[in-house]
Amino acid sequence: MTEKDFIPKPYTHTLETGSVTWESPSNIALVKYWGKKKNQIPENPSLSFTLNKCKTITTLSFTKKLKEDHTFSFDIYLDGEKKADFKPKIQTFFERIEIYLPFLKKYVFKIETENTFPHSSGIASSASGMSALALCLMSIEKQLLDADVSHKEDEGPFTQKYFNQKASFLARLGSGSACRSIEGALIAWGKTEGIEGSTDLFGIKYPYQVHENFKNYQDTILLVDKGEKQVSSTVGHNLMYNHPYALNRFQQAHQNLETLKEILGSGDLDAFNALVESEALTLHAMMMTSMPYFILMKPNTLEIINRIWNFRQKTGLPVSFTLDAGANVHVLYPHNESQKILQFIKSELVVYCQNGHYICDQIGLGANQTQ
Ligand code: PMV
Repeated sequence: MTEKDFIPKPYTHTLETGSVTWESPSNIALVKYWGKKKNQIPENPSLSFTLNKCKTITTLSFTKKLKEDHTFSFDIYLDGEKKADFKPKIQTFFERIEIYLPFLKKYVFKIETENTFPHSSGIASSASGMSALALCLMSIEKQLLDADVSHKEDEGPFTQKYFNQKASFLARLGSGSACRSIEGALIAWGKTEGIEGSTDLFGIKYPYQVHENFKNYQDTILLVDKGEKQVSSTVGHNLMYNHPYALNRFQQAHQNLETLKEILGSGDLDAFNALVESEALTLHAMMMTSMPYFILMKPNTLEIINRIWNFRQKTGLPVSFTLDAGANVHVLYPHNESQKILQFIKSELVVYCQNGHYICDQIGLGANQTQ
């Protein structure tokens, strides 16, 4: 497939007004995406767990303009409050996707959004937020084409598969990692030899058998620092240009995906823990070795990591951590060990969280339309 496949045929129906609602989850990468080319094309492939509870719920209301005025007309509300500061990001998003959704300038939109996780939790809402908005826009396009989304994957002109692919494609143009939030439970994004069907254009469902050990895998998110990130991921990605270790890193991500594929099939939790922790620390090592360099981990991030290592060594229990572009720690463990590991988290790790805040989440199945 190419970008051109996402340019729609002329719309066959008109719509005056309406609204759609989607809830879309966040995701956590096991193999990290860090570094991008033009148009949000990733420098390396990534693989993520879709989350279940950490979601954005977005309602998109639309009214047809009486006269087309060649501008994007929209307002954004977060928790009922108008957010003018969110507008530039959405304006850029609309500019990037207009060619794929030619109805955008014909309507006035109201975007109402809320997150299930606390607003300033340090959890990036861009993946869940951009995917929820992309899905809402796809639901409108579907009505304009009067397309019956066939639930049989490969039938009809506008299949469920195409709907998801285009939603992921659009979400990617809003925020790269957002393309991995449409479906679950494991999503691969970025062309790599070892994963059949993988592409830079959108996320695909991981196409191979996954061992029982990874069913309902748990992710307890320890909120170490709820403040704004000092360095945005856009800036971070850009620092991978001319980075001294970039080429090796991009190559390593392909190899790590190959290794992870074996691990996901065999259920080898020791190998899983080693791989995801190495990926997390490599991501942060890239940040520390870029120019300018920066550190997003906080002292409590390191405290938590050390305590996880000690606990794992002492008990032999399969618990590990991963990090995204911030100080918060995602503690990963299998469902059947939840009791002992959650007990450890509560008694030893929560003290390092800001205001004792943490979120118990687990692997999820993707986004849902609720209206
Ligand atoms: O989607 P972005 O541009 O915010 O980048 C996110 C990058 C990481 O979260 C650090 C890694 C990943 O693969 O999600």
